[in-house]
Amino acid sequence: MAPTLLITGATGFLGQYLIAAARKKWRVAGTFHRTRREDVERLLAGIDSGRIDLTDFRDVRDMLDAVRPKAVIHTAALADPNYCEQHPDESLRVNLQATLNLAGLCGDRRIPFVFTSTDLVFDGTRAPYAEDGPVSPLNLYGEHKALAEQAVLDRYDEAAICRMPLMFGLATNGRVPFFQRMAGEFQAGRPMTLFADELRTPVSGPVAAAGLLLVAGSGMEDETVNPKEIERVRGLLHLGGRESISRYEMGLQMLDILGLPASLAEPISFRDVPAVAARAADVSLDSSRAYELGFDPPTVRQQMEQLLPGNLLAQKPND
Ligand SMILES: NC(=O)c1ccc[n+]([C@@H]2O[C@H](COP(=O)([O-])OP(=O)(O)OC[C@H]3O[C@@H](n4cnc5c(N)ncnc54)[C@H](OP(=O)(O)O)[C@@H]3O)[C@@H](O)[C@H]2O)c1
Repeated sequence: MAPTLLITGATGFLGQYLIAAARKKWRVAGTFHRTRREDVERLLAGIDSGRIDLTDFRDVRDMLDAVRPKAVIHTAALADPNYCEQHPDESLRVNLQATLNLAGLCGDRRIPFVFTSTDLVFDGTRAPYAEDGPVSPLNLYGEHKALAEQAVLDRYDEAAICRMPLMFGLATNGRVPFFQRMAGEFQAGRPMTLFADELRTPVSGPVAAAGLLLVAGSGMEDETVNPKEIERVRGLLHLGGRESISRYEMGLQMLDILGLPASLAEPISFRDVPAVAARAADVSLDSSRAYELGFDPPTVRQQMEQLLPGNLLAQKPND
């Protein structure tokens, strides 16, 4: 029987893409928190799942004893920097304490543990950032993630910490991500203002999921997951794309793919838009270590083409 992979945050953006990719080789179990029962039935159909507040240490311990996973990918988080800024205690509990709970319990059981952190542990003034660059978060979300990284490293020396870049994809859980909103606006012929001076190394949800599965399965004896091609990945790892690009440039590429006028994308500066949480200018990641391990993101354009649904591509003139 395939080994069990536990995905925390299975109802989230990344969790949903992970489930889709992981079920080809793993038996998948997933956790969720506040998602309504009727949505859970749709989002987590066919996998073992359970509602849990990961900040509750005992519940997490009991869940791990019941599920007995062979590996854990921890994507559950409060991932909205503005929300974290306004709810600092909750952010600290979920982004730091829950992560530490899981890391410690996985460490006790020597279960491979992959924690998803963020490029926002950096301040955006010295890109590209390699794994050994010092962290310098500008907002509470980045600060709590940076604290969690250090706590995980201290608690469990075999844990892997994957810093994720901006991820883009389609709605799976009812919350419409920026990529899909952008596609919808453009398709309707409405212009959209997009940050031209905020640089990221984005990857799509499916590409991010593939990278995390590479890490979770690394060094495993089980050849259905990984025929031991790579040694167990530990410590910090950047899973960014190969291009440093703004949302405005992504918008232009999307318009080109859709055959729509470039004028629908309107450049703006992030400095002109007030935000609750401070924003970083350029947190592009240097992900060469991951590329050496076999993580191989296509170009942003190719990833966008893979995601755009047929009905959007069908809008191209001359087709
Ligand atoms: N999205 C990005 O562009 C991006 C960029 C860099 C890093 N990241 C990191 O990537 C990871 C995944 O992000 P995402 O965008 O997929 O997040 P998301 O869509 O907001 O999903 C968050 C998940 O966490 C669960 N959760 C929240 N609080 C919980 C708690 N107390 N106990 C148990 N589960 C809880 C949610 O469950 P319910 O919905 O059921 O409540 C949901 O499944 C996070 O670690 C995030 O920091 C994301």
